[in-house]
Parts: sequence; structure tokens; C-alpha cells
Amino acid sequence: MSGRNDGYLAEHVYPSNFPREFSPAWVDAMLCCRNVAPPRAPRAPFALLDLGCGDGMGLTLLAAAYPEGRFTGIDAMPAHVANGQAAAARLGIDNVDFRCALFSEVEDPAVPSYDYVTAQGVIAWVSAANRDHVYRIAASHLRPDGVAVLGYNAMPWWKDVAVFQHTALALAETEAGGSVARFDAAVARLQAMRADGASPFSEAFWTWFDTARTNLPHDYFPHEYLNTHWAPLWSDQVAGAMAARGFVLAGPGGASRLREDFAFRAADRRALAGIAQPTARELMGDVFSNASFRIDIFARPTRVGAAQARLDGWWAAMVSEAGADYGCATPAGRLKFDNAAAHAILGGLEAGPRTLRALHAGCGGATEADILNAADALLTAGHIAPAEPPAITPCAEALNAETARAARHGEGVKALAGRNGAFAIGARSITAAFGGESAALAAIRRLGVDIEQTEPAELAAARPG
Ligand SMILES: C[S@@+](CC[C@H](N)C(=O)[O-])C[C@H]1O[C@@H](n2cnc3c(N)ncnc32)[C@H](O)[C@@H]1O
Repeated sequence: MSGRNDGYLAEHVYPSNFPREFSPAWVDAMLCCRNVAPPRAPRAPFALLDLGCGDGMGLTLLAAAYPEGRFTGIDAMPAHVANGQAAAARLGIDNVDFRCALFSEVEDPAVPSYDYVTAQGVIAWVSAANRDHVYRIAASHLRPDGVAVLGYNAMPWWKDVAVFQHTALALAETEAGGSVARFDAAVARLQAMRADGASPFSEAFWTWFDTARTNLPHDYFPHEYLNTHWAPLWSDQVAGAMAARGFVLAGPGGASRLREDFAFRAADRRALAGIAQPTARELMGDVFSNASFRIDIFARPTRVGAAQARLDGWWAAMVSEAGADYGCATPAGRLKFDNAAAHAILGGLEAGPRTLRALHAGCGGATEADILNAADALLTAGHIAPAEPPAITPCAEALNAETARAARHGEGVKALAGRNGAFAIGARSITAAFGGESAALAAIRRLGVDIEQTEPAELAAARPG
């Protein structure tokens, strides 16, 4: 069918995206939490291959934040690749390359040279054959110490939405026009049925869907729902496919599954404790938490790391010590962490990213275990994020200025690059910081991000006088 790359819709560009869990700092931090050695020492040269890289802006941001890295993005959509290439050229970022190719066209190299292979939002949207190409490419391109990071729509949560997806796809196929117009027409028909009392979907579904329509860009919806091979995956299927290529699940890459005592109720934990086989246990965890999305980090089985490595990891504060809520909701109940170690971490990070070891040294009473526990709680609450030791990042400022211009229109990557890595930040906060708002400026300075305090050119030009 025209307008598709082997079933994947290729009509509208996918919205710019920076999935923070795929940045090297984040992946390494998650590996350290599982006592698995990361593929590189911080700020040592490395290479990252991103499969299905979308419009390339997320990868370009990483390249600006990691000048010591070499980044390659592969995508089948020429417009995506052209956008990434143009952005890198415009911003003078020369450590990122883009290649326009189908996964089936990517050959196995004679010598693997990548430390990370990432694929966010890809394997649950493509055919089984293409999924297998992603697994194959990861296995053949990763050095022995390298890791694959796969993000995908997971079962069981999507089982209810699967009925909607299949119906919307079928109805959209009967409509004329572009994919956004066809999707909108299909939704309008389903909503008319709902108004007439014939909706096959629950009100809970419509509430969720209406919220998604308000919060997400219009071009996102055909990418999510009009792909012929859309199929949320069970985690044991993905783990099984990677096991056949010699990889084991090193651990989930998202903060929500950092610790079982935060992620599951007591009865669920007792049930999980009775399941010895790791992938069956992980799957049961998905069922207990009604998982909708998974980020899995796969490594080769020999990658045992040092237990102390976590203390040497760098972290950045996403909130101030004074402004933080020292508690957050988790599936296990409300997590409270208004303690000396949590205050020491956030207080110590006010001046910029640090290692947990440095924060511990400056903190009087707390033990190393207290610091690690508090870091887990703060990460779960979204108050801290993995960072890097400082580096000179000559292209970050120009990239951030461009990001700020896009953010004012609700577009672009919602993230900034700085000397301590790349951080996900909301469009409103980016706009406020570039507008000179002091709290927003302080927030990004805490992350090691410096910006020119001049107004974006278009704002200045629009000012009278
Ligand atoms: C849902 S988007 C995710 C984009 C990006 N990873 C992100 O998270 O923003 C999936 C991407 O995979 C690409 N893709 C789909 N099928 C492909 C194939 N067979 N070969 C190469 N790229 C493909 C699409 O063009 C699209 O950019």
C-alpha cells in the first residue's frame, strides 16, 4: 500500500521526541541499580545506534550533550532522515549521522562497534519480520559489552484499546484523504455511535482517549493507531526473542519498576517471590501492574558490575530542596522520604550535578545505604535524574535556543542539553527559562544547562520600540 513502509505509515513526520530513558546516563544508572556493568566509563568515547529514530531531534540533542559519543540514526522515512541531517548541519553537530533504510536493508557488520542499540516505540508497531530485524541488528551491531534498550507498548493494558485500534484502522481505510483526516473521520464515526448509544467502548475508555487527544499532537495518532502491524507485546515474548540472540533482561529501564517494594502491593510481592523463572516473574509483574509500556535493557549474560558503582553515578535535581514534595504515590502506597538523606541529596544538588558519593561525604549522619534508599525514592518521585560528569558541549547552546523557539509553539523536543547531559523538561519551563523567569532559570542551571539570557530573536523583534 502506498504511503507505508512495509505496513508502517510514512505520511506525516512523527513528532519530535526525547525519551529520557534512552540516554546513556539513564541506561547506565539503571544497569548500576541491577549490579550490571554499564558498557562505558562516564565520558569515555562510545557509539550509539538508534533504530527507527523518527525525526532525529532526540538523537541530535544527545549528540550535543555527549560530544564524546558517536550517534547513528536509521529510519525508513526520508523526511525523518532529512530533518535530522538538516538540524545537525545547521547546528554544527558533527557526531551524528542518519541513514534512510528499511530494517531489512541493514546488513550485519563484520565487526560490531556499538555500545548501545536503542529502539523506542518501534517493535510493537512493525511486522513480526521487522521486529526480528531489530533484534538481529541489535545483536550483530553490539560489542560484547553493549546493551540493547527496547521501548514498546506492553500487554496487558492495551488489550482493551486493541478493539478500538483495529476498528479505527478498518474504518479509516474506508475514508478518503490523508492519514490524519482518515483517522479523524473514523473517530468522528465512532463518537457519533457513542452519542447514539451504540458505543462498543466504555466511558472510561472515552475519558482516557479524549485526554490523549487534548494532550498529544494530531500527527501522533495515525502513527499510534493506523499501522497495519500494531501489536502490543508481552514482555516474555520480547525477552524470549532476545534470549535466542544471546541476551538476558538486565532490568527494566523505567523508574516505575525500579524496586518491587515501590512497584507492587505486599500480596503481589509475595506472589512474585514464588516465581523463580525471571521472565515469568517479570510477566506476572506486568499483569499485577497492568503494564502499558515497557522499556527493557538487554545485556549479554556475563555483565556483572561492582556493587559500589551506584555511589559513583552522577545525578541532577529536577526540583529544589525547598520546593520538593517529600512523598509520592506508588502502587504499593504512599512513599514518604522526608529524611536527612533525601534533603542532603537535593540540597547538595542545588549547586549542580554531583555523584552520590560526594553527596554522602557532605552529609553528616546518613549511611551509604540511607543515601541509596533516598536516591531510589527521589528517582521514583521524578525529583532526580541520572547525569554525567561535566564536559565541554560546544553545540548545546545553539541547539537549546532552537529548542526554546520551537517550545513556544508547543513543538520540538521537550528537553535541553548541557555540560552534564540531556534532560527532559516541559515546554512551559523551557519557555519560562528563556524568557528570563528566575525560578525556571534556576531550575535549568541546577541541571548544568547554561543559556544566553537574551530573548529569542522572534520575541525581541515582536516587541514594540
Ligand atoms: C513510533 S515512531 C518512533 C520514533 C522515535 N523512535 C521516537 O521515539 O520518537 C517509529 C519509527 O520507526 C520507523 N520505522 C517503522 N518501520 C520501519 C522499518 N521497517 N524500517 C526502518 N524504520 C522503520 C518509522 O519511520 C518511525 O520513525
